[in-house]
Amino acid sequence: MDIYTYSIELSSRFSDPNVHEIISKIPESNLEDIGVRIEPVCPNIKNILVTGGAGFIGSFLVRKLVLLYPEFNIVVIDKLDYCASLNNLLMINGMPNYSFIKGDIMSSDLVTSILKEKEIDTIYHLAAQTHVDNSFGDSLEFTQNNVLGTHVLLEAAKAHNIKRFIHVSTDEVYGEVAKTSPDCHEESILAPSNPYSATKAAAECLVISYYKSFGLPIIITRSNNIYGPCQYPEKICSKFICSLIRDGKCYIHGDGSNSRKYLYVGDLVDALDLILNSGQIGEIYNIGSNFEISNLDLAKILLEQFNIDEKKHIRYLEFVKDRPFNDLRYAIDDTKLRELGWKPKIGWDYGIKKTIDWYKENCDKWWGDISGALVPHPYNSYKTLPPSGDYKKKININFCGIVNYTNIIVNIIFVLVCFVFGKYFYRE
Ligand SMILES: NC(=O)c1ccc[n+]([C@@H]2O[C@H](COP(=O)([O-])OP(=O)(O)OC[C@H]3O[C@@H](n4cnc5c(N)ncnc54)[C@H](O)[C@@H]3O)[C@@H](O)[C@H]2O)c1
Repeated sequence: MDIYTYSIELSSRFSDPNVHEIISKIPESNLEDIGVRIEPVCPNIKNILVTGGAGFIGSFLVRKLVLLYPEFNIVVIDKLDYCASLNNLLMINGMPNYSFIKGDIMSSDLVTSILKEKEIDTIYHLAAQTHVDNSFGDSLEFTQNNVLGTHVLLEAAKAHNIKRFIHVSTDEVYGEVAKTSPDCHEESILAPSNPYSATKAAAECLVISYYKSFGLPIIITRSNNIYGPCQYPEKICSKFICSLIRDGKCYIHGDGSNSRKYLYVGDLVDALDLILNSGQIGEIYNIGSNFEISNLDLAKILLEQFNIDEKKHIRYLEFVKDRPFNDLRYAIDDTKLRELGWKPKIGWDYGIKKTIDWYKENCDKWWGDISGALVPHPYNSYKTLPPSGDYKKKININFCGIVNYTNIIVNIIFVLVCFVFGKYFYRE
């Protein structure tokens, strides 16, 4: 079906006459990602709350649910953090089944009143601090938003008899997976190795405890790296693309051998939709892709996409200090989800081209000044470490806390000088 017929078909499901105009203005590339309805639609779902709906994945999910399912009312709560943008939701403004609330999921009063007033029966929980690099600096922020925020939401969901609580988590909770080890399945042990993944694992433990203790109908998803348009350019793919658009560099953490698997965001939200309909309560679903690439090779592929001659690659690649800990790779087995009928539809070549095209057109106008995101590491992520060099060797000069040989010598000389001068003045 061509995109024009598709948009007419979407509009025809709504009785509101304004919908046709709203849908007709949605860019083709966005409509392409909306996909198809999953039938039959769950009869006991009516009012869905999406937390973090102004973020990257949340906004894709919200657009899909709003446009495909006129029978659902979609309510978004998002605190509009630095990585969020209302531009992500602009194209569905005015849709009769969509509303946005600016707010923090850590506010129990706010969450409780939303569940009550909007008669929420289903929650997709995506709100989180998500940038691993930031978690090495602002790790308490991560505990507050990801763990406490989830706990507040669970308490409210329990009190309100929610029918489905879909918790969106990450494959990073399994920790690093060596090439020689088998892929992680849903029962594998959780072994997070950075503060971000640790908070995501902690949040999962709370979610599972509410299922076991109180029978809260939960489902957990764990997906690998997601890429696509509308992602704040702090994560590797979007960051490299935005840097290259500005003729800047790709900063490679460490030696660039760490690898990741990438899944297009449209495929992820297809899985989230399917899981709402066909996922089993109390189950966990891995959502993965087979496209794996090292960080260095990713940069090189992007350079090719920007038609930069191989001889000039060196000018665009800069190796910088690695993260305090950087998982070598992740690998998940998603057979369980594929048995429900899901598989990725968007191949890497198509997905990355579409992503680059989107950033070329939008990256400067979407979030305002993004230069702070394009640095080797976020400014606040290593605030306890010096800006460069081996941080273990850099020690504060502190007369009370002498900590290396240079300091010891400097301190001894200082004490001797004081002693000699002290004796001289005392004699005078
Ligand atoms: N992006 C990925 O590659 C990836 C992979 C696996 C899992 N996930 C998970 O998917 C979810 C969404 O990720 P994303 O990439 O869209 O993240 P994002 O950073 O783009 O968006 C997160 C959103 O949550 C909002 N938010 C954060 N804390 C909040 C709070 N306390 N109250 C209200 N809103 C709050 C932010 O404003 C933002 O809009 C996260 O839970 C993340 O852990 C992401």
